[in-house]
Amino acid sequence: MADNAAGIIAVIGGTGKEGSGLALRWAKAGARVVIGSRDPAKAERVAAELNARLGQDTIRGLGNREAAEQGDVVVLTVPYAAHLSTLAQVKDALAGKVLVDVTVPLDPENVRRVKLPAAGSATQEAQQFLGDSVRVVSAFQNIPESLLHDPLAPVECDVLVCGNDREAKRAAIRLAELAGMRAFDGGPIENSVVAEALTSVLINLNIRYKVHGAGFRFTRLPE
Ligand SMILES: NC(=O)c1ccc[n+]([C@@H]2O[C@H](COP(=O)([O-])OP(=O)(O)OC[C@H]3O[C@@H](n4cnc5c(N)ncnc54)[C@H](OP(=O)(O)O)[C@@H]3O)[C@@H](O)[C@H]2O)c1
Repeated sequence: MADNAAGIIAVIGGTGKEGSGLALRWAKAGARVVIGSRDPAKAERVAAELNARLGQDTIRGLGNREAAEQGDVVVLTVPYAAHLSTLAQVKDALAGKVLVDVTVPLDPENVRRVKLPAAGSATQEAQQFLGDSVRVVSAFQNIPESLLHDPLAPVECDVLVCGNDREAKRAAIRLAELAGMRAFDGGPIENSVVAEALTSVLINLNIRYKVHGAGFRFTRLPE
């Protein structure tokens, strides 16, 4: 259970652009947050910076594995090149938990072009690697980090949540709402390919139309 009343949200790779922005928003909303890093000292340093910006002391920094152990729900925000190696380090700590995978399998040769892994999506790769004891859902792949770092600024983009476990998807939707976003159940884990692939389209739109932080919003869904 992760909401602003109970539960610890662990963000693996939470020292980075996307993870630190999400951590900031969750902490601002009253959640207890742990950010993980390969280097615990770096995690402590970034956590202290985030706490100082918020004027509170609710974010802690730990090594990735220790953060995963502490988390009631675990969020993964590392580059795709580090996806499986990071999961291997935290795998044992994830058993029985919900993993919210934010990873986008961008092609470093051309981030504007969709290139997906053989498993279908990074989320499916994670689920296959971790096995059934971990409920993996995809979320936040289409939320640009540039929209996250002012925790009071509204985020106009919606979050698509895909996975095979309904309660896990509800947990991810609550996390998105806690961070000030609308989120919707986008169906089974196979559908995570849509959100992952859409990120390259959004990057393309940013470049083509010279904007920052292009996103999407669903119509005719509840506010
Ligand atoms: N940036 C965005 O706007 C955005 C939006 C939606 C989705 N995403 C996705 O979210 C994920 C994170 O994006 P980001 O922009 O936050 O990335 P990032 O800042 O480049 O990296 C995030 C963290 O991952 C860790 N990391 C970096 N390289 C690593 C490696 N080789 N091995 C292990 N850990 C490594 C680092 O933490 P430590 O050095 O502390 O270990 C780093 O702080 C990506 O999959 C990205 O596609 C990003």
